[in-house]
Amino acid sequence: MSQSKIENQKSKIAAPSGAAKGTGFLTTALTAPVSPAEAALRPLSFADFAGQPKTVERLQVMVGAARRRGEALNHILLSGPPGLGKTTLAFILGHELGRNVRVTSGPVIEKAGDLAGLLTNMEEGDILFIDEIHRIPKTVEEYLYSAMEDFRLDIMIDQGPNARSVRLTIPRFTLIGATTRSGLLTAPLRSRFTLNTRLDYYDRATLDGIVRRSCGLLKVELDAGGAQEIAKRARGTPRIANNLVNFCRDYASEKASGVITQATAAAALELLEIDAAGLDELDKRVLRVMAEHYAGGTVGLGTIAIAVGEEADTLEEVHEPFLIQEGYLQRTSQGRILTAKGYHAIGLKAAISGDQQSLL
Ligand SMILES: Nc1ncnc2c1ncn2[C@@H]1O[C@H](COP(=O)(O)OP(=O)(O)O)[C@@H](O)[C@H]1O
Ligand SMILES: [Mg+2]
Repeated sequence: MSQSKIENQKSKIAAPSGAAKGTGFLTTALTAPVSPAEAALRPLSFADFAGQPKTVERLQVMVGAARRRGEALNHILLSGPPGLGKTTLAFILGHELGRNVRVTSGPVIEKAGDLAGLLTNMEEGDILFIDEIHRIPKTVEEYLYSAMEDFRLDIMIDQGPNARSVRLTIPRFTLIGATTRSGLLTAPLRSRFTLNTRLDYYDRATLDGIVRRSCGLLKVELDAGGAQEIAKRARGTPRIANNLVNFCRDYASEKASGVITQATAAAALELLEIDAAGLDELDKRVLRVMAEHYAGGTVGLGTIAIAVGEEADTLEEVHEPFLIQEGYLQRTSQGRILTAKGYHAIGLKAAISGDQQSLL
């Protein structure tokens, strides 16, 4: 439970296990730990944070109220696909309140003692950010309940005849949990957050603004067509937009005049095998496997994962949400179904499904 152990494990924090195996640009961009170059683009205030108006308004209300009362902010759960700004918002909240933000991640907190180590080192009003909170071990989760509710921890020390329970009082802190899979959170944990807010994919105009802002910070020249092209292919995700900006910048300086124009951006993204709709090679493989091997579905995610050689978790967290949101796939309780748009994306016409065929 020592502090040093938690510090030592920091390197594990940003990498969701079961993911990060992919080699595609998008998968890597969304599962690799945030690079320093990326962190430099992180907005530090609500004023710089584009989009997500509902979530931002909810958070601003809570920040305002906490400030007025001089109390710690209530606990907040941020959910949504990777790269949409959950971590960024946690830091913005810390900034706005002038509080420290301690960052950890569900799977890193292995025992109640790890949690105790984190919490007893906090100051009143500090923020504990737990990324991937759905992956916190069940045995630790129960301790979190009393920490969140009553700001105390009853932990057992020693074993056998010497075992005894010790009550630790902890400073009033704020827990900010982030999850890509809010459905996996238990009801008791979910109910202990005052606010549960979901981030959505960003629209093109907002991404366009984010791309321009990033280019401004990086001092990269970009024209309107270049910004639009990147925004269009960024899958509604700022983290992807920023990664694409970085690649387009390199491409522009190596192969063009240094300015990111529409043509330069399009050529750079072609090289990354990201198509005009933002689909990459793995997305296409998923769609193709479904069309060619499973007659468009229904097919389980695990089966698709094996067929395309990718981790099911990566598909479910990184690729599938976008494919569903954009209407390439449908999710049913029996599995996934390819839609007409999905067939179209891989140059096929929607086949007649198995059931319909048997009716003919
Ligand atoms: N609303 C936003 N406006 C501008 N940039 C953003 C916004 N949301 C995210 N970003 C950028 O995207 C990157 C990834 O965001 P992050 O908070 O790490 O996503 P998540 O934690 O949800 O995976 C950040 O480094 C930041 O630069
Ligand atoms: Mg994050």
